Amino acid sequence: MKNLLDKNLILKNKKVLLRVDLNVPMNKGSITETSRIEKILPTIKFLLNKKAKIIILSHIGRPKGKFVSEMSLEPISEKLSKYLNKKVFFNKNEISESTISEINKIMSNCSIMMLENIRFYKGEELNDKKFAKTISSLGDVYINDAFSCSHRSHASIDAITKYLPSYFGLQIIEEIDALKKLTSDIKRPITCIIGGSKISTKINVIKNLVNNFDNMIIVGGMANTILEYKGVNIGNSICEKETKSLVKEIFEKSKKYNCKIITPIDVVVSKNIEGSAKNKKLDEVENDDMILDIGPETISSIKNIIEKSNTVLWNGPAGYFENPNFENGTKNILEIISNKTIKDKIFSVAGGGETVAAINKFKKLDSFTFVSTAGGAFLEFLEGKTLPGIKAIN
Ligand code: 3PG
Repeated sequence: MKNLLDKNLILKNKKVLLRVDLNVPMNKGSITETSRIEKILPTIKFLLNKKAKIIILSHIGRPKGKFVSEMSLEPISEKLSKYLNKKVFFNKNEISESTISEINKIMSNCSIMMLENIRFYKGEELNDKKFAKTISSLGDVYINDAFSCSHRSHASIDAITKYLPSYFGLQIIEEIDALKKLTSDIKRPITCIIGGSKISTKINVIKNLVNNFDNMIIVGGMANTILEYKGVNIGNSICEKETKSLVKEIFEKSKKYNCKIITPIDVVVSKNIEGSAKNKKLDEVENDDMILDIGPETISSIKNIIEKSNTVLWNGPAGYFENPNFENGTKNILEIISNKTIKDKIFSVAGGGETVAAINKFKKLDSFTFVSTAGGAFLEFLEGKTLPGIKAIN
């Protein structure tokens, strides 16, 4: 894979457009988890050592082409400055043909600059060529070091590679190599646990993955969609509408390929995410309840399945673990997988921003075979898909 260690790549005094994933968890403007920032430090330090000038491209959240002040990357640029012990210039100027020369002028006086959230521009998610060409005119070389965004055909991941010599960064190479190695030696029974709140991204992936696995455990926000399909009242819980036919296909396919689908049999509810927790059976959920965690019976059934598995892949928390009232499911799944990994040396891989945040919160980073920064990208990689961001450079 073409990467920045390539001997023919001259970096001295070159302007490098570096796409990274700084989509870190935030709460009221402050960063609550920093793994994704720490992961990009080796590539940045490498580039600085080579005397390159770095222009960081990233996104946070899903602002859908509009400026949303809570999704500004400014606090992240300040955090990065602290890690590097070096000023990271934050560029608030809009990127357009008419501002390029102004941004270039600023760049001539600094060695590292971060651009504002690239998803504030409509052209980003549209993979718009004109937009990609405009951003590309800021640099001489493009580097993708964002494995966790490489499943998106977006301008700063895909179209931009048409306009600049393009290479992979150090982190993306490490993640792909590790995942390739690990998944080529996978042992059955394989259990996949999918949770979290990015339902629309993952529901299609579940459909494509059921033929690969023996057990598919669905928890977190994901599970609500399935419970509603089964006719359970999920009250005020997050859920994806218009997915009935997809869920139906998931169940049909799982029967055909003998993959057991496991959904919660009891839950923890509250009237809001800051409220107190109450355990409930599925038929006790009221219209104004929010399902915010899995219940103890579900945890013990998950434990039984993991005990019989040789491979466990996990993406997405089981509940709103940021509030200790709803952390039990996520914390227990973590304990069960990490104990089993240590005791029986099973193969365990976890991935995704929220999952990594949970692993760090409960201090279990060392007890997995591998922890990937990627969520959706990790799942699509498991599907055997060539991710658009990888294809574009290869
Ligand atoms: C992630 O958190 O998985 C990446 O930043 C991609 O985010 P997205 O699902 O909003 O594209």
